[in-house]
Amino acid sequence: MAKNSNTYVCQSCGGVSSKWAGKCEACGGWNTMVEEVASVGPSKSLAGGKSSSGKKSKGVEFVELQGTSTPLPRRISDISEFDRVCGGGLVPGSAVLVGGDPGIGKSTLLLQALAKLSQKYNCAYVSGEESIDQIRLRAARLGLSDAKLHLAASNHVRDIVATLNAHDAPDVIVIDSIQTMFTDVLDSAPGTVAQVRLSSQELINAAKKHGSVLLLVGHVTKEGTLAGPRVLEHMVDTVLYFEGERTHQFRILRAVKNRFGATDEIGVFEMSHLGLQEVKNPSALFLANRSADATGTAVFAGMEGTRPMLIEIQALVAPSALGNPRRASVGWDNARLAMLLAVLETRAGVGIGPNDVYLNVAGGMRVNEPAADLAVAAALMSSLCDEPMPEDAIIFGEVGLSGEIRPVSMIEQRLKEAAKLGFKQAIIPTMQEGKTMPSANSYGGLRLTQLRHVSELRALFGQISQQKRGDAVGQKPPLKRFAG
Ligand code: TYD
Ligand code: MG
Repeated sequence: MAKNSNTYVCQSCGGVSSKWAGKCEACGGWNTMVEEVASVGPSKSLAGGKSSSGKKSKGVEFVELQGTSTPLPRRISDISEFDRVCGGGLVPGSAVLVGGDPGIGKSTLLLQALAKLSQKYNCAYVSGEESIDQIRLRAARLGLSDAKLHLAASNHVRDIVATLNAHDAPDVIVIDSIQTMFTDVLDSAPGTVAQVRLSSQELINAAKKHGSVLLLVGHVTKEGTLAGPRVLEHMVDTVLYFEGERTHQFRILRAVKNRFGATDEIGVFEMSHLGLQEVKNPSALFLANRSADATGTAVFAGMEGTRPMLIEIQALVAPSALGNPRRASVGWDNARLAMLLAVLETRAGVGIGPNDVYLNVAGGMRVNEPAADLAVAAALMSSLCDEPMPEDAIIFGEVGLSGEIRPVSMIEQRLKEAAKLGFKQAIIPTMQEGKTMPSANSYGGLRLTQLRHVSELRALFGQISQQKRGDAVGQKPPLKRFAG
């Protein structure tokens, strides 16, 4: 006889406990434990090899690795930013989770992608959040009214699974969002861990069986994790995050996990009144509003996945009114900023002193690469000595704790992108001539300045100021605020 055993499941991390507690022991979240009823049958040993229907199991059938499987072609939406992040198109039978803050544009993106896909495939859009009229209204605003797209407003998993099992099952189906889906097998409310987990499991199984692509929309909590269960990330093949500042028009689609492609790819979009537009040349966009003679900025040649991207780093070193000066950074790691300030202070004799330090990555981007160290150092020094970086220079390199500048990967791609956008010089780590670079002094029309140590960066700023003083007499002395 089946007996009911109640468990308490954390709605944030999925941790299970036999008794209620105000604080989850697994993730430390407060007020996240919710009672869930699980029906548990009498415990059975698997050793007998008999299934519930009483038949004896035959065991797993193995095949040889050297078989012939013809992979189904990927389903390509022709929105190249979207396809690239998916690893070159959607793989038939795969489940893709698209996460992001509410209102960031997930529904818009998927509606646009689906409209494109519907030119070649049978596509369906199931919304548990909006009514058919609302979706039609949105489609009209996006100019997609003519798309041959099947719409449904439903949150019953049972119905959707039946559709996926039908002989004319859609090739691509969007579920917007998984938190609104409901299966009547469980008593708990939609959006709880148990509901989300079971609903996804059912949908993924059905989609896999018939080779449909399943695109699940998932909302993100304030802490930045997918609302409810992280478990969802393990169940799907691909996890994409759609992110950006709501106040900026840029949106970035980032692959966090991909069983069928690279995970460091990003796609850049711009939100306009006509929906999301692809940004094919993000560097040009991110540098568009740069003022050439501003101090405290440096152009960093970074890599996002396989694609080089030029990003402006801005720094402001300002006298502080506080006893404990402030260090704040947006788009870059705070701990790394502290480390870099310490290295500049001890290894290059650059005294930040009792100044506040603010750092910002322009355009709402987020930079994670250590290669940005040198660009951040340059922006800081530029602000500190009130001298702009040369307008036509890009910079990159990792800074070590002893102040040494370490080489970074994919140097050629970074330099090529800079040359393409009209930059004339590059400040880079020291390279072995002949090995990575045909010449130590130039590359594709770029004049190269190779640095070994951060102290050389300080000398560089000294040179710039001296050149300038040659032109105009009576300027401020260089490095005026260096305590040295
Ligand atoms: P939406 O796709 O509904 O976000 P999500 O599904 O992630 O919650 O996007 C809503 C936001 O996008 C809303 O703030 C308005 C903006 N938007 C535009 O700026 N232009 C448009 O053409 C559309 C459709 C939306
Ligand atoms: Mg939505």
